[in-house]
Amino acid sequence: MHEHLVHLAEGNTAAHKEVLRLMDQSSATAAALVDVAIRRAGDRQTRLALDAHLQDFKWSNVFPLHLQELATPIPGDPRFHEGVTLALASSPWWPPHRDALRKPTRTAAKAARKLLGDLDAIAQEAAVMVKQITEMRKLLDGTLHVLQTQALLRLELAGVTLAGAKTLEVGPQEGLLLNHLRKLGADACAVDLQPQISAPYVITGDFMHAALPGPFDVLVATAVFEEGSGWTLHLDDPRKEAALLLDRFKSLTHPGSVVVLEHVGYPVPFTTQQAAEHGFDVIPHRVPSAVAHNGARGCALRRR
Ligand SMILES: C[S@@+](CC[C@H](N)C(=O)[O-])C[C@H]1O[C@@H](n2cnc3c(N)ncnc32)[C@H](O)[C@@H]1O
Repeated sequence: MHEHLVHLAEGNTAAHKEVLRLMDQSSATAAALVDVAIRRAGDRQTRLALDAHLQDFKWSNVFPLHLQELATPIPGDPRFHEGVTLALASSPWWPPHRDALRKPTRTAAKAARKLLGDLDAIAQEAAVMVKQITEMRKLLDGTLHVLQTQALLRLELAGVTLAGAKTLEVGPQEGLLLNHLRKLGADACAVDLQPQISAPYVITGDFMHAALPGPFDVLVATAVFEEGSGWTLHLDDPRKEAALLLDRFKSLTHPGSVVVLEHVGYPVPFTTQQAAEHGFDVIPHRVPSAVAHNGARGCALRRR
């Protein structure tokens, strides 16, 4: 795809036909765009960074490149952390490119230049993310696991000063992150159905119903609001579940508060739009997402 796009950008009719042929096979389009974005586009330095990441099989599996992080060319995508391999050709970013490429060759050549520009930008963003992944690997100190480290990174990128911040961790279990938050100076407490630490600032109970001393400046949860975590809200309608959870976040925060969630194998149980309807904006930033099976998820929200 990449070569054909480059030739089409120069006005080559045969390349145009080839691009159209590839575009007619939708799975091939997705694969081809991804291939261009993360394997061929970008300058030499970008290529080197991405190649090193993609060849580091263990880590590129743990940290695949996700759509939400590649935010400049694909702004405001309503989905969280869909793997680039699944997402590019189904993202709202693609249809205008696709339609423009179907125009006569002269117009399509212009569209190809624009598409190549976007793919370069995606590659560059992916390279920035890879740099962050490398930095983050140094932070994994054997006590905090990947999701907890990601949560801290997401808080930092959201501009949160933890020292003195009134913080609630949901589901701390044995309390590693909670202890770390307190070490960083946060005024942190926690709620867990079955905590494995005992401290005056750890409340035993259900996050959805327990009396909690809010409002909090920061609310954080890793591997909690997802399948298999003990999370018990299983309503028939996922919209109702999303609304209940977001209402609960709202009742425990104030304007300006930040909510950070990190998940392992299941999506954050609401969309960016549902979050917005409940007064929370997604704070976009490039935080590498750890993954188990389905593609991992996470988000930082700021209360309006
Ligand atoms: C999979 S563990 C994650 C523990 C820790 N946050 C981590 O990342 O390693 C999920 C934790 O969330 C707690 N939990 C699940 N649903 C909860 C709820 N509704 N209210 C409070 N805690 C909950 C569980 O008791 C468990 O300790």
